[in-house]
Amino acid sequence: MAQERRKGRTLGFIPTMGALHPGHLSLVRAARRENDRVAVSIFVNPLQFGPSEDFRRYPRPAARDRRLLEQEKTDYLFLPSPRAVYPAGFQTTVEPGAMAEGLCGRFRPGHFKGVTTVVARLFLLAAPDRAYFGAKDFQQAKILGRMVRDLGFNLKMRILPIVREADGLAMSSRNAYLTAEERRRALGFSQALALARRRMGEGGQNLAALKRVLVSYLIRQGIQVQYVEWADPETLEPLKASRPRMLLALAGYVGKTRLIDNAIITAFRGRKK
Ligand code: PAJ
Repeated sequence: MAQERRKGRTLGFIPTMGALHPGHLSLVRAARRENDRVAVSIFVNPLQFGPSEDFRRYPRPAARDRRLLEQEKTDYLFLPSPRAVYPAGFQTTVEPGAMAEGLCGRFRPGHFKGVTTVVARLFLLAAPDRAYFGAKDFQQAKILGRMVRDLGFNLKMRILPIVREADGLAMSSRNAYLTAEERRRALGFSQALALARRRMGEGGQNLAALKRVLVSYLIRQGIQVQYVEWADPETLEPLKASRPRMLLALAGYVGKTRLIDNAIITAFRGRKK
């Protein structure tokens, strides 16, 4: 990378855990548009999984991932070993602040610390000019943006929109766990977001009441709800009263699979974003 840098070439970087889908590939394409070289890392980061989470069974379709990245003309595929990311005796971590406490942070203790730590290591190893993240993991992207500013990483963060299946389901490597019947139930997430957008457009601005409607909607779809939260899209602080621009974030289980989804909702009729 240092060599490319000396030649004045810019590097766009997309950290992933593999099991690539069009959501990941949209990030690769955005990086392709804005940089001379594109690097993708695949590393299933043990530090960000809880003890009862799916680290061991997380999908690892290595050959397929490689093929997809070749099709997208990715210049570098970075497959670091655990030792390269976490040297022997590793004990230093990056601790995120208040933004990591709410939403998923409440239900996945230590998760975001695992994310900030691995992404800090990957940034140091890849030394990119720009790094690309998906709004699918909205809280993650915002926490990492904060980390970049707080620790002074010399790179630009880009957050790209959520890529969805034709029927609205947000693409996720974990969708592979779903049975056909669970796949249908999982649609409840994007439908709940659409319902919220409709209600807000109609002037239904009581956040607590709408939250109750959404929770019961999700339960009726067969989703075991973890949270339905309105938050400030920049600070991620919970919102009690309606604002022009709000993050609506959802999390829950469909069977044994934990899924998340979110949308930016505006409280004014007729305005798109
Ligand atoms: P992973 O889940 O593989 O996601 C890698 C990147 O792809 C993240 O920035 C994520 O937000 C983005 N992404 C996933 N699904 C998307 C979708 N449907 N639309 C748009 N973007 C999507 O997120 C991680 O890995 C890890 O936590 C990581 C940042 C690599 C650190 O280990």
